[in-house]
Amino acid sequence: MLSENRVLLIVSGGIAAYKSLELIRRLKERGAAVRCVLTRAGAKFVTPLSLAAISGDTVYDDLFSLTAEAEMGHIELSRDAGLLVVAPATADIMAKMAGGIADDLATTLLLATDKPVLVAPAMNVRMWEHPATRANVEMLAARGVMRVGPGVGDMACGEFGEGRMAEPDEIVEAIEAYFRGAGAAVTPSRGKSPEARRLAGRKALVTSGPTHEAIDPVRYIANRSSGKQGHAIARALARLGAETTLVSGPTNLADPAGVTVVHVETAREMLEACRKSLPVDVAVCAAAVSDWRTADAAAQKIKKNGGGGRKLELVENPDILQTLASAENLRPGLLVGFAAETEKVIANAKAKRRKKGADWILANDVSPASGTFGGDRNVIHLIDDSGVEDWPPMSKDAVAGRLAQRIAEQLAEEP
Ligand SMILES: Cc1cc2nc3c(=O)[nH]c(=O)nc-3n(C[C@H](O)[C@H](O)[C@H](O)COP(=O)(O)O)c2cc1C
Repeated sequence: MLSENRVLLIVSGGIAAYKSLELIRRLKERGAAVRCVLTRAGAKFVTPLSLAAISGDTVYDDLFSLTAEAEMGHIELSRDAGLLVVAPATADIMAKMAGGIADDLATTLLLATDKPVLVAPAMNVRMWEHPATRANVEMLAARGVMRVGPGVGDMACGEFGEGRMAEPDEIVEAIEAYFRGAGAAVTPSRGKSPEARRLAGRKALVTSGPTHEAIDPVRYIANRSSGKQGHAIARALARLGAETTLVSGPTNLADPAGVTVVHVETAREMLEACRKSLPVDVAVCAAAVSDWRTADAAAQKIKKNGGGGRKLELVENPDILQTLASAENLRPGLLVGFAAETEKVIANAKAKRRKKGADWILANDVSPASGTFGGDRNVIHLIDDSGVEDWPPMSKDAVAGRLAQRIAEQLAEEP
């Protein structure tokens, strides 16, 4: 929680500025007070009105505003903030910070403040990799400016690479870590940052989406899984440098860039594709695999039979998680399963971990009230040997990012 904590948020002119609205909302949910400063370019992407409405405070954008200066001078503006956050931080604003330039309210504040600063860079991959930006980022880190992100991923400009602003949940986590005294993710680097390569040389397998089990050529048994969580995990592992294979059931999602995607329909096809991708260092089974299939799918479309009912005979599908766990010398080094439960979430997930032989189970509530299936957010309980770790509600992307970091930490401990 961030009650009593005050954040001065500087929004500069990047396409990711729209995410600053979500960031403010999340910070306020946790009890933080947020006051915003907007650059001229920032105001091209997000309006002062929306920032004011969501933050519930005046938005400052003019160094030479007589009213604002009389009420709260530019030197004073950061005085009651515990932390200055620049999100998104453009290449331009970081260059100005590094060079000590103060040509508008935001940069003057950043030069005049004695408060700690956290930046969340966001820019095109080539801007991020440019030697000028690299030098500026290093200089800022050397001066103690904290940084969260950027991540690797698809960009608004249609490219893929490092430069994507950290998700609002990740920025909130970094802010919370700072106020807890744990410090934020500060990663001075040249070229690719170390966090982008933490899983370099590792192989990962992820399953995602539902399976379809044919009843006849036009009908099938399915479930409500959207594949959003599994796809996000594959993307997050690839972002950390893992050579990632995603075995996906039928979904409406685009294939994540930088990932080898194998499309399957049925549980048996999914198992076969998983087997073929072994050995791997880590497997994350996030697919909602149908437990049953029809004993005998009809070769032709089944016709109505004049008002009478019809019985479907079902047989159990192979259990992919359990099969991977017992794959003898091909067992993934770290085996992670999901438990989608509608009741007794933790108890059922603990039992599943024991029964299936997984190392970690990520339990999530998929009852209709939770909105997990098909939605963009998730509430996770990570169950391992040592007990249960409750994660706060977050986006599926943030769950994926946090899981990928946990996997990287775990694999780093292994010889
Ligand atoms: C459509 C568009 C998107 C842009 N996105 C970014 C971006 O994501 N990151 C960035 O560093 N600059 C981006 N720029 C360039 C900045 O807006 C420009 O460098 C501006 O001077 C930054 O000003 P500021 O740092 O004072 O906000 C973008 C420009 C345009 C026109």
